[in-house]
Amino acid sequence: MKIIVPYAGIVLLVGPSNSGKSTLLKSMIEKKQILSSEVVSSDEFRVLVSDREFIDWRERPKDEADCLLDEYQTISKEAFSMMDSVIDARCRLNKLTFVDATHLHPDDRKRYIALARKNHVPIIAIVLDIPLDTLIERDGQRDHPRGKRRLKQQYQTFKREKRFIKKEGYTSTYLLDETKHIEFIRRTNPI
Ligand code: GTP
Repeated sequence: MKIIVPYAGIVLLVGPSNSGKSTLLKSMIEKKQILSSEVVSSDEFRVLVSDREFIDWRERPKDEADCLLDEYQTISKEAFSMMDSVIDARCRLNKLTFVDATHLHPDDRKRYIALARKNHVPIIAIVLDIPLDTLIERDGQRDHPRGKRRLKQQYQTFKREKRFIKKEGYTSTYLLDETKHIEFIRRTNPI
């Protein structure tokens, strides 16, 4: 499948944990279809602001789990704020940015649609629709598994949101059920 990516603007990856967002972008970097500096990832910004990519609060006593969840949310808020500043600056400089985060909640996506509009650049969405069983199976192979419960919650949100995404106002939307055989075709001029 060929995905036409704009010359400048925002490419929003959408999909639950383990749907393969980072893996797809990594393979595109390896194939030299995109630059590593064109990718911003919420995981990397969490590390930048807090030295931690993920906090595992599963199987902890409730009080401790609540504390860890609070800490994770505080870190995420700082990470996204930094990340959005970088995306905004890149839009102002007429650069292309691939945003690697789940974007499951409408507000998270609408923020970037507004950012693209403000900067008069296009925004496209690449939506990864991978079956829940596959997401759970892949989780076992990760250094920091996200946990079945979390994946199920994310998948339910994704299933609910999927049908609205097309109408949210992207320049184009691509719905993928696998990430192999993908080719990015880059527009070579701003029009
Ligand atoms: P988050 O960062 O948690 O949102 O996940 P993500 O959607 O970025 O998934 P990521 O690309 O980090 O992949 C998660 C795990 O699934 C890794 O262990 C990958 O190796 C594996 N994975 C991703 N895509 C594929 C695929 O197409 N096939 C297989 N077999 N494994 C994959």
